Amino acid sequence: MAEKEVVETSEAQIAVHWAEEEYFHPSKEFIAQANMTDPDVIDRFSLDNFPNCFKEYADILDWYEYWHTTLDTSDAPCWKWFVGGKINACYNCVDRHLPKYKNKTAIHFVPEPLEEGYQHITYQELYVRVNEFAAVLKDVCGLKAGDRVTLHMPMIPELPITMLACARLGVIHSQVFGGFSGRACADRIVDSGSNVLITADAYYRSGTLIDHKQNADIAVDLAAKDGQKVDKVLIWQRYPGKYSAETPMVDGRDYFANDLVKDKYGARVEPERMPAEAPLFLMYTSGTTGKPKGCQHSTGGFLAYTAGTSKYVQDIHPEDVYWCMADIGWITGHSYIVYGPLALAASTVIFEGVPTYPDAGRAWRIAQDLDVNIFHTAPTAIRALRKIGPDEPKKYNYSFKHMTTVGEPIEPAVWRWYYDEVGKGKAAIVDTWWQTETGGFLCSTLPGLNPMKPGSAGPGVPGIHPIIYDDAGEILPQGAGKAGNICIQNPWPGAFQTIWGDRDRYVETYYARYCKDPKSKDWRDWPYLTGDAAVEAPDGYFRILGRIDDVINVSGHRLGTKEIESASLVVEEVAEAAVVPVNHEIKGKVPDLYIALKPGIAATEALEQKINDAVCEQIGKIAKPRKVWIVTDMPKTRSGKIMRRVLGAISNKLDVGDVMTLANPEIVEEIKKMNDESGI
Ligand code: WTA
Repeated sequence: MAEKEVVETSEAQIAVHWAEEEYFHPSKEFIAQANMTDPDVIDRFSLDNFPNCFKEYADILDWYEYWHTTLDTSDAPCWKWFVGGKINACYNCVDRHLPKYKNKTAIHFVPEPLEEGYQHITYQELYVRVNEFAAVLKDVCGLKAGDRVTLHMPMIPELPITMLACARLGVIHSQVFGGFSGRACADRIVDSGSNVLITADAYYRSGTLIDHKQNADIAVDLAAKDGQKVDKVLIWQRYPGKYSAETPMVDGRDYFANDLVKDKYGARVEPERMPAEAPLFLMYTSGTTGKPKGCQHSTGGFLAYTAGTSKYVQDIHPEDVYWCMADIGWITGHSYIVYGPLALAASTVIFEGVPTYPDAGRAWRIAQDLDVNIFHTAPTAIRALRKIGPDEPKKYNYSFKHMTTVGEPIEPAVWRWYYDEVGKGKAAIVDTWWQTETGGFLCSTLPGLNPMKPGSAGPGVPGIHPIIYDDAGEILPQGAGKAGNICIQNPWPGAFQTIWGDRDRYVETYYARYCKDPKSKDWRDWPYLTGDAAVEAPDGYFRILGRIDDVINVSGHRLGTKEIESASLVVEEVAEAAVVPVNHEIKGKVPDLYIALKPGIAATEALEQKINDAVCEQIGKIAKPRKVWIVTDMPKTRSGKIMRRVLGAISNKLDVGDVMTLANPEIVEEIKKMNDESGI
C-alpha cells in the first residue's frame, strides 16, 4: 500500500503547488433565476440537523407511502434511507409529469450522422415506449422485481427507455459501458447473475457504424463458460426494421426488441411500489483488484439525492434544455442524464457521437440548434475541444447559464477557457467531485450562492461533510496546506448500499481504514474513505488531487491498474506486468504497460501487439496502453515487490529518486534508456 501511495502522492504534491486562484462570482442574472439562493441551506443541512435534513430532497419526489425512519443504521455501514417508504423511480421520472408536461420534450436525441437530424421524444411518447417495453420485459422475458438484467447499450434513446422500463418493474438494471468488450460484459453478467442481456445491433462513432451485436455473442458464450446462462438477448436495431450487424441472430435466444414491442402496442404496466431501499441499479467500477465492483444503488435514496442535487447544484428547472455530454454507461449518465433531470421534468439531450466529429464546431452547433442552456462535461473533453477549436464557440449563437465539469481535476488555464470561451463569461461553473459509489455530488459550489475558484471543487454540497485525515489518522484542519485522504463523515441518501454480493469487500475498502469501532451502529464511527487525496484551503474549498489507490483516471473514466495487468497476463508469454499512469495533455492520464516475459522468450513487436490486443479484448479500447514496454526485468525491492513508483517516474520523465536500495538498480538505467530512445 505504502509504495502505491508514493506514486500518487508525489503527483498530488505537484498539484498542491497550483497557485490559489481568485474567485469568480456568478452573474446577477444567474442568481435571479437560481433554484438555490438561500444561505440558510448550509445550516439546514448541518450535522446538527442530520439525517432529517434530507427530507427536503425526498420531498421533491412523489411517494406512495411516506417513510417511518429517515436513516436506519442497524446494519452499519450498510445504511438504509427512508425506510418504510414506497416509491417508483420510473413513475417519478415519467408518469407524474404527464398532467403538466406531456407535450414537452423529455429526450432530445442527436444521432451522430448529420443527415439524420434530431429526434424529440415527448414525455407522453416516453411514457408509451417505456410502458410497452416494460410489458415485453415482464411477459416475454418473465422479469420481476429484484431480478437483474444486464444492458450493454450505446447512446441511443432506447437506453434510458430500457432503464426506465426496468425501474417500472423494480428490475435491477446493470448497464455496461457500450465501449467495453464482450469479455468485460460477460464478467458483469456473471457477477450480477443476469439471464437476460439487452443490447443494440450497431451505433455510430466518429463516422463509422460499429457492429455491436458481436459483443453480445462473445459475452453470452463467455458467461456460459463461467456458469451463467443467458436465455434471451434483446437487440434494439439502430434502424428499426433493418439489421445493421454482421453476426447472425441465434434462433430461440436473440430477439429484436423493436419487434417485440410491436406486439405490446397500447400496453400499460402499473409501476411497482418499491421499498425505498430496494436496489435500483448496479454500476460496476474499477478498484484495487482485477475484479470490478458492482456498486448497488438504492431506489428512494438515490433518486432523492440525484433530484435534489440536479435541482440545486445543476440548477435544473423544467423549462431548461440540459445537455450532459457523458455516456449513460457511466455513473454520470445514470445520475445526471437520466434520473436527476427526468425527475425534474427537464429536457435532456442524448448525443450518440463524439463532440469533435465531424469538426470542432459540432458541440456548439448542437447547443445552438437545441438552445441548450445547461452544459455538463469533463475536463478531457474541454481540453480536446480547446485544442482543436479554441475559437469555435464564439461562432455560434447559444447561451449557457450554467456549466459543469466532472471527473478529473481541471487545470486553471483550461477552466478559464471553459469560462471565457464556452460560457462566454456568463455561465456559472460548478466543478463537481464525486464517484460511482456516491451516486451524486460530494463537493461543489452552489452556483447561486458560492463564488467559483478555478481548480477547486469547492465545499461539501449540502449535507455532505468532508474531512481530511493523514495516514496516521489525524485530522488535517482547514487551511493546513497539506494533502491527506479525504473522507466523508456522514452517510447520505445517494451513497451506494454495498458491493453486489460482497459486503466484506465493501466494508474493507470504504470503511475499515478510519472506522472508530467496527461494532458500532453509530454513523459517526464510520467515515467513508473516498480513495482520493485532497487539500482544504483556508476558505473551506477542497481541491482534489487524484487517487491514492491503484486506480487510473483516463479521460475521466476509472480503470484499475490491476485490471489491465491481469488482462495482459492472459498472454502466455507474459511473466509479469506493471501498469503506471502517465500524464497526458488531453486525457489527463493514460496507462503505460511494463511487461517482463517468461525465460527464453524474445521481445518482438508482434508480441507487443499481441499484448496490446489482449488488453483491448479483455476490457475495451478505452484501456489501450499508451505503450507496451517489454523489459528484461522489473525494478524490484529486495523483497521482490515491483517498484511501480520508479516505472511511473520513468514514463513521466521525472526524477526516479534514489534507487540504490533496489535489488536490481541497474535495470533502471536500461529502462530509462529504452524510454529516451523511443522518442515518446
Ligand atoms: C475523480 C465519476 C477531481 C476522483 C463521477 C474520483 C474528480 C474519481 C472529480 C471517480 C473532480 C471525479 N475533480 N477529480 N471534479 N470528479 N474525480 O467513479 O479521483 O468514474 O475518485 O465517478 O474521479 O470516478 P468515477
